[in-house]
Amino acid sequence: MLHQTVIQIRAQANKLIPIPLPKLIEGEGAITQTALALTELGGIKPLIVTDAMLVKLGIAKHLTDALDAANIAYALFDEVTPDPTLQLIGNGLQEYKRNGCDSVIALGGGSPMDCAKAIAAAAVKNVDAKKLVGMLRVRKALPPFIAIPTTAGTGSEATLVAVVTDPVKKQKFTIIDPSLVPAVAILDPLLMLGLPAKITAETGIDALTHAIESYIGYHATEQTKAYGYDAVKRIFANLPTAYADGRNVEARRQMSIASFNAGVAFTRASIGYVHAIAHQMGGYYHIPHGLANAVILPHILDFSFENALCRYAELAIAAGLATAEDTQVAAAHKFVAGVKALNKTLNIQTDFPELKANDIAELAKRAVREAYCEYPVPKLMNRTQCEALLNKLVAG
Ligand SMILES: NC(=O)c1ccc[n+]([C@@H]2O[C@H](COP(=O)([O-])OP(=O)(O)OC[C@H]3O[C@@H](n4cnc5c(N)ncnc54)[C@H](O)[C@@H]3O)[C@@H](O)[C@H]2O)c1
Ligand SMILES: [Fe+2]
Repeated sequence: MLHQTVIQIRAQANKLIPIPLPKLIEGEGAITQTALALTELGGIKPLIVTDAMLVKLGIAKHLTDALDAANIAYALFDEVTPDPTLQLIGNGLQEYKRNGCDSVIALGGGSPMDCAKAIAAAAVKNVDAKKLVGMLRVRKALPPFIAIPTTAGTGSEATLVAVVTDPVKKQKFTIIDPSLVPAVAILDPLLMLGLPAKITAETGIDALTHAIESYIGYHATEQTKAYGYDAVKRIFANLPTAYADGRNVEARRQMSIASFNAGVAFTRASIGYVHAIAHQMGGYYHIPHGLANAVILPHILDFSFENALCRYAELAIAAGLATAEDTQVAAAHKFVAGVKALNKTLNIQTDFPELKANDIAELAKRAVREAYCEYPVPKLMNRTQCEALLNKLVAG
């Protein structure tokens, strides 16, 4: 009861706090438009926030070439590692200040994009990023900020969230503020052609999870449902191709749009238990975010079935798994079966070898606490139910 009331109050509050949409620049070679976009935002000397792998693969060079061609000086911070820590963000902030930067360009998956958001927020507030953890602690416009995703999954290029990790507490925390929505998002499928099949699959299911969790939760609106529906449609139509043939530009392009749209949906309508549990897997065992979601998603779809049946039925049509001729129940079943089949096509594992039975009580406690009064889930889960679910995911 308390949960329902708080969720309803939050839904009303959400409507009062406008969330901006990034300006979208999309298509093959879109990265060449970065310099112009930066200049239009008033940026003169950006800090590029990326990871060493993207530099090694030559992906960062597409960006630096575009800036060089426009005679824009920049500083490069390429130390981001998966699941950025507060310490790492601090290092990036030092680089930003040391080089006299006035803007930020994030290039990479969710890890560089979130690290960049936290650096930019810490810079504008002139505080340690630790002080910004939580809701609406930034309340100030970021310096000119451009996000260029190189995975199609997190949707961070469209969201008001930065996920940061505290390795000591083995926990993920969020900085949530509308000012964290990037001013510009540049989606360039050519940057994603070499993304390994395994990461393509896992990040793709992260995007699917954003679309589904936002669609079935109580905060969904007609607008967020339209974005989520569109994302589900594009993901079912293109993720198997992007996985099997990574160099298929159109499949990559469709996935990049799907990820963006799913980001737009969930940043307004929130997420659910798949993420609440996946965050614990990331914080505790460093399991990649997309993989954690992919393993957990089918279980939560089963758990919420009766309460989310109508929405599943709608998504079954989006996914091309059912038609208007199907009954709602039949369509809903087809949707759950379709997600499970997609996981199989993508060779997603079905358990976590890292998960220790001894940790389950604490993990379940944290997951249930993260979701309670925060995530507008269609069906509440108690600790015992969460423990039972986690027990199914122990390997062996
Ligand atoms: N802010 C948000 O809204 C939001 C939403 C969901 C998840 N997240 C967070 O995002 C992080 C995960 O991001 P991610 O799944 O994109 O992974 P990631 O950024 O950690 O990258 C994973 C790996 O893929 C490599 N990679 C990235 N792009 C590549 C490319 N084009 N070619 C070859 N290799 C490439 C990277 O070098 C890295 O080794 C987690 O910390 C998660 O909690 C944030
Ligand atoms: Fe996610």
